[in-house]
Amino acid sequence: MATPHNEAEPGDYAETVLMPGDPLRAKYIAETFLDDARQVNGVRNCLGYTGTYKGVPVSTQASGMGIPSLSIYTHELASVYGVKNIIRVGSCGGVGKDVKLRDIILGEGSTTDSAVIENTFQPGIHYAPIADFELLDTAYHKAKELGISTKVGDVYAADRFYNDNVDMERLRDYGVLGIEMESAGLYLLGKQLGFRALSILTVSDMIFGEGSTTSEERERSFNDMITLALETAIA
Ligand code: HPA
Repeated sequence: MATPHNEAEPGDYAETVLMPGDPLRAKYIAETFLDDARQVNGVRNCLGYTGTYKGVPVSTQASGMGIPSLSIYTHELASVYGVKNIIRVGSCGGVGKDVKLRDIILGEGSTTDSAVIENTFQPGIHYAPIADFELLDTAYHKAKELGISTKVGDVYAADRFYNDNVDMERLRDYGVLGIEMESAGLYLLGKQLGFRALSILTVSDMIFGEGSTTSEERERSFNDMITLALETAIA
């Protein structure tokens, strides 16, 4: 086994990895979108697959939930398996004034309450994790080409799913579009280890309002997000 969390051999992952939180989403991406997909990781059921998309090798690997779990998989993908691009494909709660259910958000930057900033930099430094600009620019323009509408901006990576102490109105007023639990860690590690990182998120629930989606609607917006991520991966 190459790492404590991954049984893949060096060379088993493509240079670009699509990273959902949920292992079954990784399986769905592999089975629905990739050709000749084979499972490369099954440790802890945190599934990883490699196949091709339009002839180009692409992998998908689940991150699990939250920055600590995502950090393990991304660190090992970059440092052991030579992965160069990691595109998170996840869900988020809608926060921004104009954000609606099922919208697709490109995370330009990621505000966070996670300790990863403090335990990376000296006290007083409030580092701002940002996406790789080339990936962001490619995804933004590919979305336009494909007729997929996107919103671009800050996504708040929360350390706790259940936390009443966060002033969400203030975050909204300062431009935060969505809340999730991973992007700041992904962007920070991208800079630390030299891989390109981007988060593409679909809005699965609304923080200030009511609203729910049918499973068919959720599947359609999830599929749009995966198509966008794959077209970005091979551009
Ligand atoms: N909070 C945190 N993470 C999330 C949410 C949320 O409301 N929705 C999807 N991921």
